[in-house]
Amino acid sequence: MTSEWGPLAGLVGEWEGEGGLDTAYSHSQEKVLGTPYLEKVSLKPFGPVDNGNQHLWGLDYKTAMWRGDEQNPFHTEVGYWLWDAATGEVLRGFVVPRGITVLAGGTAAADATTFTLRAAPGEPQYTIGENRYLAKNASTLSYEVTITVGDDSWSYDETTMLQMIELAEPFAHTDHNTLRRVG
Ligand code: HEM
Repeated sequence: MTSEWGPLAGLVGEWEGEGGLDTAYSHSQEKVLGTPYLEKVSLKPFGPVDNGNQHLWGLDYKTAMWRGDEQNPFHTEVGYWLWDAATGEVLRGFVVPRGITVLAGGTAAADATTFTLRAAPGEPQYTIGENRYLAKNASTLSYEVTITVGDDSWSYDETTMLQMIELAEPFAHTDHNTLRRVG
């Protein structure tokens, strides 16, 4: 069934997933490391937002990830997912509190159960902003995420290419998780 939220309809709700896996360069261990995590995501619908003749329907979202039994999450995001039914454009705009903003985009059918969004610095529409320190020491070269929506679950697979000052070559900072509905 299609709804005003198109392919985003299946993401509405409160979700948890304990099978997350992050691959990142760890400064404390001075190497690329795999970290399992627990994630809690909230996605709340709103709309329409009208830009002249454009009518967007969206989800406002926040997510947080914890490793082991740590009190504070080691990664968080806040942002919006947006759907433009007229063009099939899907957008995800979010902030990573390291001082990074991402506006990733792609296209999908209204009833798609899998879709991919991309962003890269310098791209005219779907781009990435980062602070001055990160530009010198840990610059984001690209971002790509594939979402797959199931029944009362959804998953993401994302790759953030980073140029770290500690490493000669760009490396793939990857994250994936499957979220199950808790509300
Ligand atoms: C599920 C999503 C994500 C998780 C769990 C995550 C987790 C992590 C972890 C554990 C580190 C290593 C910190 C350290 O030990 O030094 C890291 C570093 C980093 N992440 Fe992510 N990350 C995620 C998504 C992203 C995204 C989407 C971006 C950018 C678009 C990003 C950009 C960075 C950058 C630039 C660094 C290096 C910062 C530094 O030099 O210390 N991450 N991330």
